[in-house]
Amino acid sequence: MSKQILVLPGDGIGPEIMAEAVKVLQLANDKYSLGFELSFDELGGAAYDKYGVPLADETLERARAADAILLGAVGGPKWDAIEPALRPERGLLKIRSQLGLFGNLRPAILYPQLAEASSLKPEVVAGLDILIVRELTGGIYFGQPRESKVLENGERMAYDTLPYSESEIRRIAKVGFDMAMVRNKKLCSVDKANVLASSQLWRAVVEEVAKDYPEVELSHMYVDNAAMQLVRAPKQFDVMVTDNMFGDILSDEASMLTGSIGMLPSASLDANNKGMYEPCHGSAPDIAGQGIANPLATILSVSMMLRYSFNQAAAADAIELAVSKVLDQGLRTGDIFSAGMTKVGTAGMGDAVVEALRSL
Ligand code: IPM
Ligand code: MG
Repeated sequence: MSKQILVLPGDGIGPEIMAEAVKVLQLANDKYSLGFELSFDELGGAAYDKYGVPLADETLERARAADAILLGAVGGPKWDAIEPALRPERGLLKIRSQLGLFGNLRPAILYPQLAEASSLKPEVVAGLDILIVRELTGGIYFGQPRESKVLENGERMAYDTLPYSESEIRRIAKVGFDMAMVRNKKLCSVDKANVLASSQLWRAVVEEVAKDYPEVELSHMYVDNAAMQLVRAPKQFDVMVTDNMFGDILSDEASMLTGSIGMLPSASLDANNKGMYEPCHGSAPDIAGQGIANPLATILSVSMMLRYSFNQAAAADAIELAVSKVLDQGLRTGDIFSAGMTKVGTAGMGDAVVEALRSL
């Protein structure tokens, strides 16, 4: 039976990078007889323009029916003025939560060819391979109540709520431990347990889950320290597990260790490994439409999709190898460019990966 993949290019650079990822996906589909059928729809601002909402019910139904979802990026100044509930980002949060995609895997791997592109010294980042496991459907991005209001004295105030239940913490902690088990068996749980009640529960539950993983070396770190350690000595980390907001922030930080946020793919998985795959970067409206965005994070997201949703390790490995070969050839988009390399645009990079994959 064929496998259905729903492609949601989104906004800004989304359609440009997605066009390249789709080329790679279609080649992999043919080369490895994967039997994928692709369909396309809108999310975010593009969905707002087409359907009047950032995630239409029919799109959500298509996403539910699909075997996997490939997403570009959402958001942009064009939609800044619309009411908060209809902002592009709301569509992304809604699809994550409606599909129960609580487990977000964000690998930060430094390709040796890009050591020069990192803002840190090569010896600090050489060989870097970290996996950030971010809780994606709970915490402060979803917590109720949340409100913006005007007080009786005329002053404006607003608040959000950061709730976590035991079961939400337990299931993401398990993802963290499971990932550590297939890697270097080190897990660092990041929280703010010196201040937050939700973090105190987080730490207690992670400790309980740890009993089922005696082989994993568990440590706890406050998020402020973790942010500092990531730029001081990032290679001390193997897997990091953390809540929604801390994971959002730390994964952007970790991406720069690898040279560019344009290199970071991600997988967002439900309890049965159904997944949505997207680059960690945003829609970069400042460079949208110029054909200069780096498509590699999206191409590497295709590779994660083959690995996690379809168990196609050989095809996934081949895409990663093709990316590595293109970097060996010295091809660089602007974000990872350094002296002596050849600058290419979005399509140039995508075509080069396609060629490298074809010739493997
Ligand atoms: C990310 C993004 C999103 C998030 C935004 C666009 C809502 O920053 O995927 O990291 O905060 O999760
Ligand atoms: Mg983010």
